[in-house]
Amino acid sequence: MCGIFCLLSLSPAQFERDKKIYEHLKRRGPDSSQDLTVRGTHSCYHCLFSAHVLHMRGILTTQPVQDSAGNVLLWNGEIFGGVPVKPEENDTAVIAQRLSSCNSPSEVVSVLSTIRGPWGFVYYQRAADCLWFGRDFFGRRSLLWKFDESINALTLTSVAAYSSGLDQSAWREVPAAGVYRIDLKAATEAGSVMFEVFPWAHGGNHPDSGCSDTILESVPSCCSAVMNEAGLVLTSPVCPLNTSIPESINEEEIHSDSCIKDLEQLLASKEKQHEVNGLIDVLSEAIRRRVQALPFRIQDDPPPTYDHARVAVLFSGGIDSMILAVLADHHIPAHEPIDLLNVAFKLQEPKKQKESAKKPKKHNNKPTHDKPGAESQTSGPFDVPDRITGRAGLKELQDLNPERRWNFVEVNVTQEELQEMRQERVCHLVYPLDTVLDDSIGCAVWFASRGKGFISEDEDDQKPFTSSAKVILTGIGADEQLAGYSRHRVRFKTSGHEGLIQELAMELGRISSRNLGRDDRVIGDHGKEARFPYLDEDVVSFLNSLPVWEKADLTLPRGVGEKLLLRLTARQLGLGQSAVLPKRAMQFGSRIAKMEDKREKASDKCTRLLTG
Ligand SMILES: *[C@@H]1O[C@H](CO)[C@@H](O)[C@H](O)[C@H]1NC(C)=O
Ligand SMILES: *[C@@H]1O[C@H](CO)[C@@H](O)[C@H](O)[C@H]1NC(C)=O
Ligand SMILES: *[C@@H]1O[C@H](CO)[C@@H](O)[C@H](O)[C@H]1NC(C)=O
Repeated sequence: MCGIFCLLSLSPAQFERDKKIYEHLKRRGPDSSQDLTVRGTHSCYHCLFSAHVLHMRGILTTQPVQDSAGNVLLWNGEIFGGVPVKPEENDTAVIAQRLSSCNSPSEVVSVLSTIRGPWGFVYYQRAADCLWFGRDFFGRRSLLWKFDESINALTLTSVAAYSSGLDQSAWREVPAAGVYRIDLKAATEAGSVMFEVFPWAHGGNHPDSGCSDTILESVPSCCSAVMNEAGLVLTSPVCPLNTSIPESINEEEIHSDSCIKDLEQLLASKEKQHEVNGLIDVLSEAIRRRVQALPFRIQDDPPPTYDHARVAVLFSGGIDSMILAVLADHHIPAHEPIDLLNVAFKLQEPKKQKESAKKPKKHNNKPTHDKPGAESQTSGPFDVPDRITGRAGLKELQDLNPERRWNFVEVNVTQEELQEMRQERVCHLVYPLDTVLDDSIGCAVWFASRGKGFISEDEDDQKPFTSSAKVILTGIGADEQLAGYSRHRVRFKTSGHEGLIQELAMELGRISSRNLGRDDRVIGDHGKEARFPYLDEDVVSFLNSLPVWEKADLTLPRGVGEKLLLRLTARQLGLGQSAVLPKRAMQFGSRIAKMEDKREKASDKCTRLLTG
């Protein structure tokens, strides 16, 4: 993960770099920071490139990378396939080399189409006098843009900075709908920027000749976007979603008996061995590519005696994170620990009573998020639902592999600390997103991924602990692909399989703007890298190829029907109770949503983010 920044100035006027943004970028890339300025030969633009590198593998490659022809690359990405990178090679150098040999837009497009893995990039092509930039197909790396009229300059950056005086619409996320190219000579002459768009050919369909609405809505003021003249597209790295609908809907009655034992029998009786093994194969390989060939931290030289973990999992004990932990266990050397990061926000005592008084009413329209008894077991103020399922999950993992050291990191967050760090850090990282949900998830993920908490050797021996892992696996993408959210049930009830398929397609399409850019900025702030195995191209292709009824059966009860295929997979991998836990969103599981005593909706603008 790196922090990349490019300021393209169309007039020779002096510009000053935003110091706050520079600091934020440095936190993403603590291992090397370097600037480079380039001036146009025939026109008077200049470009400031600033790169901040987090060293992940090979020899540390400082950026910006400039080749002998004067081309400049800023690369914030990982190659997990498509382009060969040897273990001792650095992928930045490999990409720079590939791009250097490109003489036409179609060649650049073809190089970018072959890469498997997350990326955001900026590339200056000197001979063609143009600037390329963009994000991977899913948008797993953040990139923001803004045009500042007063200095006639376009800025691209991994992370921005919030300030209360700021025009709220100034920064936008660059839509992960394609890559973009600026003709610098034309831009300088016109005094404004036009983006040529090279869209991803989504789901095998060629986009029509115009730009998508997503792009047009996000283009900064004073800039414009057009489809590239040659009509070039990037090839989608995943196969299209299988839209078949079951022929005979043998209207299974809604199983209302939710006794755990019956659910287990139900799971046991399902014959989906072929699909389960297929999913294990692709997911296991995706995780292998994400946990192997990792460096130790620079300061750990000579390498430590394996008492520090290099991989951590954002861990609630729910099925998505349990499967990540089990498969990571298969690929990480046996003597190396794995950190399980589990976040809890302090329960507010007085509010708890109010809550239980309200309870019966709530139950009617909202399925219980907690296991029966979870609430009554509550003893300490940090024993939130995710802490309880997390501990249970830890037990299962210890049973599966007692040799492994599993560091269950209890991250306990108080209201005071939450408020302090939200103002100091999280508000800048979530920005330009701004809803109550962005605030909750942004804060929860920030504290969890910081990995600062306590581990218990035994019952009453707690010691402070800070995770050293640079790589953080997160389960994002599982719910979107396997129908894990309660809105999938709603959609299925009202419009059947067809509606469900539409919902799933829409959700994967917007995951970049809803989640991924934000999570990348939040996790990157600790000098760590988020990795998303459920969004590996091969995993998505595999899941896309299956008909929807193999992935979920929403006629079955909660805790079984949604993400059915994943539950069967968990069983196959030897997991127990965690295989049948109903989905619990992070903001409820960690109880951060309970901290704020406001009757606010998740989609409301969050005023707490606006005071930085
Ligand atoms: C890594 O990148 C640097 C700078 O581009 C280059 O000099 C070096 O040869 C590369 N190392 C490997 C092993 O490719
Ligand atoms: C953190 O929370 C857990 C409850 O899940 C509690 O047992 C532990 O004592 C807390 N640790 C600290 C240092 O607050
Ligand atoms: C979709 O699933 C159905 C049922 O399994 C299968 O027959 C069909 O070949 C699949 N289609 C694609 C495009 O994979």
